[in-house]
Amino acid sequence: MYIQDLQNTINILATPGKGILAADESAATIGKRFAAVGVESTEKTRAEYRELLMATPNINEFIAGVILFDETLHQKTSHGILFPDFLKKQNILAGIKVDKGLVSLPFTQEEQTTQGLDGLAERMQDYKNKGASFAKWRAVYAISANTPSTAAIRANAEGLACYAAICQAAGIVPIVEPEILIDGEHTLEQCEEVSEKVFHAVFHSLFKHHVKLEYMVLKPSMIISGKKCAKQATPEQVAKATLAVLRRTVPAAVRTINFLSGGQSPEQATANLNAMHTLQTQLPWNLSYSYARALQDYPLKIWQGNTKNTSAAQKAFYERAKLNSLASLGKYNPSMEKETSLA
Ligand code: 13P
Repeated sequence: MYIQDLQNTINILATPGKGILAADESAATIGKRFAAVGVESTEKTRAEYRELLMATPNINEFIAGVILFDETLHQKTSHGILFPDFLKKQNILAGIKVDKGLVSLPFTQEEQTTQGLDGLAERMQDYKNKGASFAKWRAVYAISANTPSTAAIRANAEGLACYAAICQAAGIVPIVEPEILIDGEHTLEQCEEVSEKVFHAVFHSLFKHHVKLEYMVLKPSMIISGKKCAKQATPEQVAKATLAVLRRTVPAAVRTINFLSGGQSPEQATANLNAMHTLQTQLPWNLSYSYARALQDYPLKIWQGNTKNTSAAQKAFYERAKLNSLASLGKYNPSMEKETSLA
């Protein structure tokens, strides 16, 4: 194993006050995000938008790594620099989404598992040669009366663990992402119960596959009420439930936990992260962010595919990253939202 590579990468990703930008939307997902702001999704517009994010002045103050989609790993900036090299110049690590998306699990209630293990070891070498030092694999779980099922919990835990072992054997730090979806009417308590089962199963599988917990990033969903739940939990309730479950299931050997935003508003994702740090200051892990939507919503809306808006969009991205950095240190206050140009 390339222990030194893994050590160097995790040291950077676990830097206090820094987080990860997820900019690894698949062609289909970025197409939806662009359509919502009236931008056509082409190879060129996708590269332009991602360059806008990565070229934001001084963004390396708050961002330690950027997760890229396969296409972006091979694209160049407008100045002809490959994106991984462009990030490297700013002391930001390049990561790569390596899963190949979701497939349905037959004989379950429309549950899904993640594909992409075939040929992964070979692909991993190629990604490493192209400058990636960490990777991401996402598994999803929906909450309903009968889901997630034991079959889905087991299948996804095994997938995440097999992937993580393949990453580490190649000297790549795996982001292990079990996402319990926010959609639905479930309560905070139901999310808590499901999350505990899911995280427990994931760590059991990681152990069985000899994954070194010191060299991975856990990217979980927060424990939160479903989007359609009548009773929406406060940041304090989200923080209390999330920390309780993480303490029960995630060994202290894990250096950093970087949450996904999962459809929360940018302000909500920031407030919830901050609440965890104000609730408990002595945490066994670094607790930070790896957001896509909660970091990109404002810049994307401001950009609208027009280069005239690039610098305003970059400013919005910088401000949002800064607020999340403060939240990851327990130093955010909602009144700061008014101080930015976004309120
Ligand atoms: P969101 O923050 O938009 O949930 O995206 C994070 C991510 O990487 C999803 O896989």
